[in-house]
Amino acid sequence: MSKITLIAYTFGILFFLVSCSFASFYGYKVVTHELPKEEMTKEKFQYHLVLVPEELDNEYWRLVERGAKAAAKEYGVLLEYAGPKQANIEDHVKTIEMSAASKVDGIMTQGLSDEQFTPLINRVVAKGIPVITVDTDAANSKRLAYIGTDNYYSGFLAGKALIADTKGKANVAIITGSFYANHMQQRVKGFQDAVKGEKGIHIVTIEESEISRVKAAEKANQILQDYPEVNAFFGTSALDGIEIAHVVEKYKMQNKIYIIGFDTLPETLDYIRKGTIKATVVQEPYQMGYEAVRMMINLIKGIKVPPIVHTNTRIMRITDLPVSNPGRMREVK
Ligand code: BGC
Repeated sequence: MSKITLIAYTFGILFFLVSCSFASFYGYKVVTHELPKEEMTKEKFQYHLVLVPEELDNEYWRLVERGAKAAAKEYGVLLEYAGPKQANIEDHVKTIEMSAASKVDGIMTQGLSDEQFTPLINRVVAKGIPVITVDTDAANSKRLAYIGTDNYYSGFLAGKALIADTKGKANVAIITGSFYANHMQQRVKGFQDAVKGEKGIHIVTIEESEISRVKAAEKANQILQDYPEVNAFFGTSALDGIEIAHVVEKYKMQNKIYIIGFDTLPETLDYIRKGTIKATVVQEPYQMGYEAVRMMINLIKGIKVPPIVHTNTRIMRITDLPVSNPGRMREVK
């Protein structure tokens, strides 16, 4: 074999090996949704739990994850955070099924819709794997407990805040994260019930953002074109209010349009400081994550836990923000 052929062979083999390792690494990531990253260290831990959110990189869910990780550290739990990169119900369901198949000790997830999640949760529980719903309840399922906001009440609070802030006169557009998800439906229902008796409040339209920033902005744009009478918005999930504010600022309509959003992500707080968002509904994602793990450990140990634990919810306005910190707000846990 000539020297050149030998070099060509060596390069060929090297190239093949590098391609194989890339292929198996990414193939593994796609299939597992980053599931068993910490597999190697499993023996160190007493319990293996999985938290499955509807969207991995959503800032709101990162706060839930932080709370869960803090509790996991305290209780000797191997905690995996796995799910769709972008909100997608099939991937969400698949991740729960894969977690159950890998016989984890417990699954914490949202009970997004009765149709898809109730039978799934029931199947998992029947296999002997406890399920706790977090943030969104599937109340008709056999989940062992729910921890999260009272979503109906939080929507009701939003409605009452809007009435107070607009002096009972507003043409409202609602942008909701999803038409099918239980918590979104409850938030909208609570809001509708709160404004029901108000003659001066009209809900002009309800649109869906599919938990997507781009869609929320598109919908806000469209609403302003189609319904010039709209002078108030209610965004029912963490990114909706932010994108409504973005669009309203683009048209320089901050002084004409009232916005109430959801959650306390840094961008939302910035918009509150600027006066573009007038109010937001506070949730406690960090606490949801922390308590979910604590409750799960108790359940596994046979200690009773309450079937429903509601975390705090309330309205926050600019007057509730500390004045001593004029820069970027700290992230609210
Ligand atoms: C909801 C989460 C949702 C998030 C989307 C929050 O208000 O509680 O369920 O995933 O918004 O950005």
